[in-house]
Amino acid sequence: MRPARPSPVRRRFHPGKPLLFIASLLPLAWLLWLGSQGRLGANPVETLSHATGDWSLRFLLLTLVITPLRRLSGWTGVQKYRRMLGLFAFFYVGLHFTVYLVFDQFFDWTAIVTDIAKRPYITVGFAAFVLLIPLAITSTNGMIRRLGRHWQRLHRLIYLAAILGVLHYAWLVKADLREPLLYGGLLAALLGYRLWWWQTRSVTPRPSGR
Ligand code: HEM
Repeated sequence: MRPARPSPVRRRFHPGKPLLFIASLLPLAWLLWLGSQGRLGANPVETLSHATGDWSLRFLLLTLVITPLRRLSGWTGVQKYRRMLGLFAFFYVGLHFTVYLVFDQFFDWTAIVTDIAKRPYITVGFAAFVLLIPLAITSTNGMIRRLGRHWQRLHRLIYLAAILGVLHYAWLVKADLREPLLYGGLLAALLGYRLWWWQTRSVTPRPSGR
């Protein structure tokens, strides 16, 4: 008699993931559709730059919403969407940078380096982009396992990237600061919640009395 084969570990299918994936691609699909119809406005490069910049920031904030949402609602399943949201933040920043590189600077690397060095809002935006690169690279299960507790520390860079992203936005607008202030307020609430959580956890005595 053949020995019974160990039953394969079945991964549960979460319909939420493909749905979120498709929903996250909708802003890009919308831009492509507008472009194909010649409806990107009088300045298509500006429209693309603004839309991809806005979506970068929105996805960064959405990524940061997950942990407070899980803790406050007790909905532990929401955690599985965090990585995808973070990767989409990186995806939209990558598109945002590509628009700048291709349509704004026409691959003129000298002009780009000068721009990064001389215009503070570009310096700050670029720094945020660079900070997100190691986070995207180390988002695989293998890297999470390999880096162990260092992974969590490294991924705290997302807080700095989001702060720099909001600063980049606030710096570039000339008059109406309402939108950057709105993003800044949301980010302050999300980071403030974390500070409060860490602080209360560090002063609350453990049940064992240790
Ligand atoms: C995490 C990184 C970044 C975030 C979150 C971000 C976000 C934004 C946002 C929200 C806007 C304004 C959109 C609007 O007006 O509706 C914007 C505009 C812009 N960003 Fe970024 N950005 C980032 C990185 C970069 C990088 C790396 C570059 C180029 C090196 C860049 C170049 C620009 C430019 C040229 C504009 C348009 C400025 C204008 O209208 O005069 N950004 N970005």
